Amino acid sequence: MRHTVPAGLNRKESDVYLRLDPARIPQHIAIIMDGNGRWARRRHMPRVAGHREGVASVRDTVETAACIGIPALTLYAFSEENWKRRPKTEVDFLMRLLCHFLKAEIKALKKNNVRLNFIGRQHELPESVQREMEEASLATSKNTGLLLTLALNYSARSEIVDAFRSLAEAASRNGGLAHMEVDEQSISDHLYTRGLPDPDLVIRTSGEMRLSNFLLWQLAYSEIYVTQTLWPDFRGVQLLESIEEYQKRDRRYGGLGPDGHNRPHPSHRTHAEAKR
Ligand code: FPP
Repeated sequence: MRHTVPAGLNRKESDVYLRLDPARIPQHIAIIMDGNGRWARRRHMPRVAGHREGVASVRDTVETAACIGIPALTLYAFSEENWKRRPKTEVDFLMRLLCHFLKAEIKALKKNNVRLNFIGRQHELPESVQREMEEASLATSKNTGLLLTLALNYSARSEIVDAFRSLAEAASRNGGLAHMEVDEQSISDHLYTRGLPDPDLVIRTSGEMRLSNFLLWQLAYSEIYVTQTLWPDFRGVQLLESIEEYQKRDRRYGGLGPDGHNRPHPSHRTHAEAKR
């Protein structure tokens, strides 16, 4: 039986949605938004025009994710390295864009029942940005649908350093280092993402094959989907296509497939192998 399409999807999105198994929608999707600069360059526009259009992609992707009932979406908006290695004018523009987004989108986030959350070294961001972030997360804190996490001034290695510092501080308050519990669960519990399930799927736009210091601990068993689409061209329909590809994967977590073999995914087999 064909499942029903959630209200709010457009025609193209509905077509892809009908090919999905609604029972196997990823619980957490993480996205490395890349290619804003190239999008602008191809149009002979300044780099910031790509970032501006990238906001429309964020809006559409979040709306579609909320619509189809994805519980968690994490977007890599600004890395610690971006902050250090980009011209001040571009960094300042991104900060203004973010503040504008946080103000302008509250209404839509509320309407779509989206709760906003942040990860990264927030205290190193300009105070005006921190204030907007606090207001936006407070304004959406009662929402019960999609948890949208924006990674801002984020670095996975810094997150792991901060987790170990936090573990050591907790131990020193609790009888000293002899009482420090170090195992996978305790480390996860001290990451910025504590309480969130690890992403089932990580998407990277613009064709680059790198994780770029994003959620290195949490992505250990995530399926990776790389699309050539540049972030400003990414919309809800591309999100649904990535889920369609994800649902074709055979997740083994280091084990064997159901037939006891470690076969490659059908799309990676030769024609002759696929026929066997
Ligand atoms: C990567 O493209 C993108 C960024 C560093 C910034 C991402 C920001 C946005 C999508 C807009 C603002 C976000 C929010 C949440 C409001 P790039 O500049 O590295 O592209 P390039 O590799 O083609 O140069």
